Amino acid sequence: MSRRTVNLRNSYDLANLFHYNTKISPARMRILSRRTFRLKVNRKMIEGMKTYKLSPKESLIDKSFPLVLKERMTTRIYEIRTPILFDIVSTLLHFSYGVSRFQDNYNYRFIASAGGIYPIEIYLVAFNVRGIEKGIYIYDEISNSIKLVKVGDFRRQFHESVSGMNKYYVDNCAFIIVSTINISSTCEKYDNRGYRFINIDVGHLSQNLYLVSSALSLGVVAIGGFIDEQLEQLLNLHDVEDGVALFHCFGKKQQAPIDALKLKLEDYYEK
Ligand SMILES: Cc1cc2nc3c(=O)[nH]c(=O)nc-3n(C[C@H](O)[C@H](O)[C@H](O)COP(=O)(O)O)c2cc1C
Repeated sequence: MSRRTVNLRNSYDLANLFHYNTKISPARMRILSRRTFRLKVNRKMIEGMKTYKLSPKESLIDKSFPLVLKERMTTRIYEIRTPILFDIVSTLLHFSYGVSRFQDNYNYRFIASAGGIYPIEIYLVAFNVRGIEKGIYIYDEISNSIKLVKVGDFRRQFHESVSGMNKYYVDNCAFIIVSTINISSTCEKYDNRGYRFINIDVGHLSQNLYLVSSALSLGVVAIGGFIDEQLEQLLNLHDVEDGVALFHCFGKKQQAPIDALKLKLEDYYEK
């Protein structure tokens, strides 16, 4: 199969081109089947200013699995003033992307991941989480803890990185979880096709975040539209192979009509 090039006419031709050029031909399959690869994880070693050990609690989940699936949905109205308990955040992080089993000298996690590589790092951005200070934390699955990497309220930076209704979700949520990807990790094994897998992994993680939120009756919305560069700068992602794939806003579900919640940012920030 020859590599294909196209004149870019539609805004999605690059996607067509990428998909076409990452197809596996029979000849390529023969080459791939001879390759060997050792399971390894490219961990980002970030030292935090402070470490908080997670306190996941299975007892917080008392729903049946069919009910968790039925109640999985996107929440777009949050109670801005209601803090979320650290135990809830811990349970969410742990069961979404923590270590689920140690087998053959390897830490497997709660998501399926192409090659067991886990190319995603997650950052917790806390605005209103009871028990921890406002700031940006990186999740470390080995110690099952979060490490504080930046102190402060970064809601405005998220507000400015999105548009339209997404601004309301960012303005009213209690915390955000950002999924960042390292492109070279999975692509070292699967070449360019690995990029497909990385995004599938991001989807698995997103589904876990949604399902665990459903189990905890926590509101969640995935946000795919954001100005990449702004969030990359915020998270100090300077390498070309690192990027933000998706983020999720979380908070207590609000029952009131959406108009009741259209608080202005100025009302939220201290004058
Ligand atoms: C990759 C991805 C990106 C999304 N981006 C946004 C977004 O930017 N804004 C938004 O309001 N919802 C976003 N969503 C949520 C979808 O709109 C939502 O899942 C869909 O409408 C189905 O509704 P449900 O989740 O309630 O079943 C996104 C979902 C996914 C999976």
